Amino acid sequence: MKVAIAGTGYVGLSLAVLLAQKNEVVALDINAQKVELINAGKSPISDAEISDFLANKKLNLTATLDKQLAYQYADFIIIATPTDYDPETNYFNTQSVEAVIEDVLSINPDATMVIKSTVPVGYTESVKRKYASRYLENSLTHQTQKKRRLKLEAVVSAGQRHDLEKISIGNRLWQSATQLHQNLCVADIKGDELSESDSLPNILFSPEFLREGKALHDNLYPSRIVVGEQSQRARIFAQLLVEGSKQADTPVLYTDTTEAEAIKLFSNTYLAMRVAYFNELDSYAETHGLDSRQIIEGVGLDPRIGSHYNNPSFGYGGYCLPKDTRQLLANYQNVPNNLIRAIVDANTTRKEFIADSIIRRNPKVVGIYRLVMKSGSDNFRASAIQGVMKRIKAKGIEVIVYEPVLEEETFFRSAVVKDLGEFKARADVILANRLTDEIIDIEGKVYTRDLFGQD
Ligand SMILES: NC(=O)c1ccc[n+]([C@@H]2O[C@H](COP(=O)([O-])OP(=O)(O)OC[C@H]3O[C@@H](n4cnc5c(N)ncnc54)[C@H](O)[C@@H]3O)[C@@H](O)[C@H]2O)c1
Repeated sequence: MKVAIAGTGYVGLSLAVLLAQKNEVVALDINAQKVELINAGKSPISDAEISDFLANKKLNLTATLDKQLAYQYADFIIIATPTDYDPETNYFNTQSVEAVIEDVLSINPDATMVIKSTVPVGYTESVKRKYASRYLENSLTHQTQKKRRLKLEAVVSAGQRHDLEKISIGNRLWQSATQLHQNLCVADIKGDELSESDSLPNILFSPEFLREGKALHDNLYPSRIVVGEQSQRARIFAQLLVEGSKQADTPVLYTDTTEAEAIKLFSNTYLAMRVAYFNELDSYAETHGLDSRQIIEGVGLDPRIGSHYNNPSFGYGGYCLPKDTRQLLANYQNVPNNLIRAIVDANTTRKEFIADSIIRRNPKVVGIYRLVMKSGSDNFRASAIQGVMKRIKAKGIEVIVYEPVLEEETFFRSAVVKDLGEFKARADVILANRLTDEIIDIEGKVYTRDLFGQD
């Protein structure tokens, strides 16, 4: 199978590597550095399995900046581009997804597009309506061009065999044949997929559930595969994912499109709720001088609750949970709710609680130990500690940052201290969302809510 993937971030690259074990994969990005690294067998993101596969496994994978090259012969085109939350519209910005759809419609309109980016509930149905007529025009042109090209080749080869007079007879025949074919094409398409001609037929949604840092691992051992269509092509796509994985018994669920989109947002919002719950339990324990760890251990021993994913933090963060919870809340417009709004608000309350705990200590200099969410991570998109940092700075307290993945000298006008020893000496209080051995020696200065030493 020929597969193109738009976007080589955590989602796109892990799928590209997974599928390139058994398929011909072309991965497209707009970032030349990423493309170069991938073609050199190096991972642009920190992910042990991706690095190992790129360096050591036999993969049929090419990265490119060229849309034409990526899309023209693909059977499936996976869309894995960003969908950042736009605070002005209160919705995801889906422009990058639509840019890909438009490119595909002009280059290879009959390929099947699979959206893996996280999108608002109802989005896929809306793009099916939006691009219906563009598909009809482009698909017809594309098919007609293909047929015309084939006929031209036939006429030219006839001309090579016979004389010019025969070519002109051939051309007249060809013209009427072309007209006939155009009519047949319209009839074919209208009578087939586009009998409901107000819908773009070749796009579906399949949610992605991977974790950053374990992106390929989570596709090699998926918790489940969900495809938002009950069709033959949905089964073929799911089968591609199963064949690339190391698990033959992965649960595969075929749902309707909008339900698949809801599965993604409700899953992430549930995870955010769990984080927010144990964080609020921890705020209560801290306020009343109770041992949070004892309470969480006792609560978790109920098997219905479980002792996993319960480690307090400064708030849920990372690229997905903050934006996905907000998007789900936006989708609740006109639907009564308390919990979904509370999950969004609880994160703000937690960051305020942590900041107030620090401010009460009257520090002159606060050190931020790592901006990343967890050890091993290579990015700090929307990490909760940044929200805490902002609140402390708003009180006029000097903040310094220790973050080895940062090359800059400052971060939001706070000094980035490259030397860990100097950082430890300069800060009165050090905030660490997660503890590591590096800061054990100055434990007395460290403020953390990492009680269990895990995510
Ligand atoms: N990161 C996760 O853990 C995760 C998990 C599940 C779902 N998702 C969703 O998947 C999507 C992608 O997330 P990500 O973390 O992989 O993003 P990312 O930012 O790591 O990567 C996105 C890539 O797309 C590229 N890109 C942007 N516009 C493009 C275009 N028009 N054509 C080709 N490439 C383009 C960017 O250069 C970048 O390399 C988002 O919708 C996200 O919500 C992410």
